Amino acid sequence: MQKGKFITVDGVEGAGKSTQINFICEYLKDKGINVILTREPGGTEIGEKIRTMLLSNSTGKMHADTELMLMFAARNEHIQNKIIPVLAQGDWVLSDRFTDASYAYQGGGRGLDIERIAQLENWVLQDFTPDMTLLLDVSVHIGMQRVESRGTKDRIEQEDFDFFNRVRQAYIARAKQYPQRIKLIDAVQSVDDTSRQIQAILNDL
Ligand SMILES: Nc1ncnc2c1ncn2[C@@H]1O[C@H](COP(=O)(O)OP(=O)(O)O)[C@@H](O)[C@H]1O
Ligand SMILES: [Mg+2]
Repeated sequence: MQKGKFITVDGVEGAGKSTQINFICEYLKDKGINVILTREPGGTEIGEKIRTMLLSNSTGKMHADTELMLMFAARNEHIQNKIIPVLAQGDWVLSDRFTDASYAYQGGGRGLDIERIAQLENWVLQDFTPDMTLLLDVSVHIGMQRVESRGTKDRIEQEDFDFFNRVRQAYIARAKQYPQRIKLIDAVQSVDDTSRQIQAILNDL
């Protein structure tokens, strides 16, 4: 029996996910909610090993289907051995990225057939889905400017502007397809104004 709530935060690089996740975490804790913070790909010991394989530049070129399946392999571990047990004990889970990212990056970015992604989603998630997804939206240009100071880019971050534009458009398409679950946040605004939008949505939840 699921008791806690599962919230995911998604969006392109530099949208402000890490920044806002910290805010959400503090806000929920203030309300007396026990929340654990996790991320994808990763979140478990095996998942983090798969993350290294996926994101390390030393991995080099990888077939897009392999990338997709590794994402879902890590996600399976994450759901079965972390997310579901934590929710079952009544705590909340906040994840930096989740399945929508597979549709955005491997679907939009890499151009994989959405139907094939949906097959994996059905297999791994069945009817499990986040209670709420906060999609932080900024233009790729702004996102890239914000992360410039981060220095070295991982294997997926090496992709070009057009790739990330397709990622962003795929995210927006997901939000239009699932308006109940996915809340589109204008993340171009200041950190505080973006937090205020999120706070209003969390209060509804
Ligand atoms: N609303 C915002 N306006 C301006 N800068 C921001 C905003 N949100 C985050 N930043 C800054 O942009 C950079 C990327 O933010 P971050 O939260 O790490 O994004 P993400 O986790 O989505 O890649 C950080 O340096 C952060 O301080
Ligand atoms: Mg981040």
